[in-house]
Amino acid sequence: MYTDKRFTAYDIQACLHDVGRAELFKAAIFSTVREGDVVVDAGSGSGLLGLFAAQAGAKRVYCVESNDDYIPVIRENARRNGFANVVQAIHADATTVQLPSQIDVIISEVISAGFFYEPQLQIVNNLRRFLNPGGRIIPLTIEHTIELISAEETLYGLNFSYDSRYHALDGDRSLTNRQQYLRTDFTTPQSKDISAGVRLRGTEKGTANALRLHYRIEFTPGTWAEEPTSFLMNPQTMFLPATVEIEPDQEYQVHLAYRASRSPLTARIQVSPVGHRAERMPAPTEPAAPQEPRRPSPKSMPTKVPVPAAS
Ligand SMILES: C[S@@+](CC[C@H](N)C(=O)[O-])C[C@H]1O[C@@H](n2cnc3c(N)ncnc32)[C@H](O)[C@@H]1O
Repeated sequence: MYTDKRFTAYDIQACLHDVGRAELFKAAIFSTVREGDVVVDAGSGSGLLGLFAAQAGAKRVYCVESNDDYIPVIRENARRNGFANVVQAIHADATTVQLPSQIDVIISEVISAGFFYEPQLQIVNNLRRFLNPGGRIIPLTIEHTIELISAEETLYGLNFSYDSRYHALDGDRSLTNRQQYLRTDFTTPQSKDISAGVRLRGTEKGTANALRLHYRIEFTPGTWAEEPTSFLMNPQTMFLPATVEIEPDQEYQVHLAYRASRSPLTARIQVSPVGHRAERMPAPTEPAAPQEPRRPSPKSMPTKVPVPAAS
């Protein structure tokens, strides 16, 4: 299974009651799905997005879900809403599933910042094979940005281990500008191995112990959600293997390499002040082995990459 995360009933309820997220998808689905379309909702959970497609006029909706606990839930929700004859719940891995027919619309919301944990890229790569000419995809594009931050280390006066943290804390402080490192157009095949470099500029002096990832989504052509912050895992804070001293106006080359759907702990992260020779990092061919969780207390660790001395 192409995922590091198995969803629980709590996660699915969190999705269902994330009103901002649901309304963005509902608007996108109502403006995209046409009367008589065949639609797939991949990573269907409660069946919510597939039910929106049925309400919008789809004649057939394949709700593909890998967790068999949710198959009866999808069927029951379809029945309660009068769509038992429209919705077909399919227990399968959407990254490899063979759909029963061609489709007009792909809907898939297994999104998280950086494509960590969830196989959005692999799912859409697989389902695109079934798309009729002129078919449509929701969402259409996702853009990711990163910045270096000084991430708050304590919560309730305690220090916790995270694989990554997706709640912003008051003490988090941005130390650089924010730059796009990834733009994903779902209409074209996408590599699951992400290898991206970006140059950031220091804006404040401080000790960076984390990267903060944000994403923005183009739901339908030209309709973007700039800060869909009620989405799970946006922004996402990933801790660095070693701290970096940030100076205003100094540039930093950041390189990230990881496999989509894996945990952020498997990502290889490199940060080098520009002007220093960076270690070469190959693009990943195999997912990196999980590392020890990066704890939010590395400010006390020795800094691997000091800034150049002022000349
Ligand atoms: C973020 S939830 C979204 C649920 C629903 N689409 C919604 O919008 O409320 C992701 C769902 O995708 C399912 N999932 C994850 N990987 C999958 C895969 N490879 N194939 C099918 N379903 C998958 C999870 O079990 C979970 O129910």
